[in-house]
Amino acid sequence: MSQKQTPLFPLRQGRHTRQAHVDLPEGTFEEEHARQGFFGRTTHLYRLHPVTDWTRIEGPLRPHSYDLNGLKPSAEEAIRASMSGSTEAAFAPIRLLYNQDVALHWVAPSAMDFFYRNADGDDVYYIHTGAGKLETTFGVLHYATGDYLVIPRGTTYRFLPAAGDQRYLLIESFSEVTIPDRNQLGPNAIFDPAMVDTPELEAYDATPREWAVHIKREHAITKVYYPFNPLDVVGWKGDLTVWRINVKDIRPVLSARYHLPPSAHSTFIAQNFVICSFLPRPFEEEEGAMRVPFFHSNIDYDEVLFYSAGHFFSRDGIGAGMMTWHPQGIHHGPHPKAIPLSRTKDRTDEVAVMVDTYRPLKATPAAELMENKNYWASWK
Ligand SMILES: [Fe+2]
Repeated sequence: MSQKQTPLFPLRQGRHTRQAHVDLPEGTFEEEHARQGFFGRTTHLYRLHPVTDWTRIEGPLRPHSYDLNGLKPSAEEAIRASMSGSTEAAFAPIRLLYNQDVALHWVAPSAMDFFYRNADGDDVYYIHTGAGKLETTFGVLHYATGDYLVIPRGTTYRFLPAAGDQRYLLIESFSEVTIPDRNQLGPNAIFDPAMVDTPELEAYDATPREWAVHIKREHAITKVYYPFNPLDVVGWKGDLTVWRINVKDIRPVLSARYHLPPSAHSTFIAQNFVICSFLPRPFEEEEGAMRVPFFHSNIDYDEVLFYSAGHFFSRDGIGAGMMTWHPQGIHHGPHPKAIPLSRTKDRTDEVAVMVDTYRPLKATPAAELMENKNYWASWK
């Protein structure tokens, strides 16, 4: 995924700009054709029409949009068919999109009277709405809206949410989740590792009763019972633990003169996928510098965007709690109104989580129930 390729000398044909994303030739729309997300070999194409101005699409490849706010009660059968693992009322992640490397789920937990352990992968939660207490083998962590919770594979845990609506996006990774190298930005950029919170050991419920741990292994649940609370850890040392960072503590890198690619907003990295955070930030200032994402086909990655808060300036008709999936091979880019609109504003207040996957994703029946089937035509 990250192997270096010898760059070719940039070749040129016809009308183009020498500095990508700046001073596009009059009347053109820029398209980026790039490998390896946004850090491989790249060519920019200057077109007379937005490449998303199709009239019809026949066949399975198309952009998708899902409204996760609308889980319908009638959807029970489809939801069950989409489950992988726990189906307990208090903790029943609904799988939406998945491949061999990663699975995205929508979870609305209530207070769990059992513990959960994922033996298949690391669990990264993004808290879209809600707050509460996460009890783990390593101690207790309090969480709130905008938190990412990173739970290493094999950790025993349960959610004890506070009152109110709980809606979490679960990004289940079948390889270890780490943070990307900051290189020349230095170790304290984007977020200072000192902003990370880890669990603290507290007095736990030592009631002698039967305690259950629901272990997910190859997507099947095994229940193991103990006559004592299995969170009976009284001390630990080491560098493998649960951790938390809030999106408010992530300080996006930006340039006043150049639209940085999404890869500049990478928060987590794992095998064959990356998690990026798009956060409130000023737009590019300089006249001529593009302010909206360029059209691209991102040919090596499927792109999923979960929209959590704020105004999503590049996508019309997309609100909080919605998710889009743009598979590799078909183009995507800003909606028509976004380009002139971006010129009238000086900043974006969006909070969105992006998951870019190297291998193609598949949608579950539950995702299809929440799909807006006309999304492909929304660029018209
Ligand atoms: Fe993209």
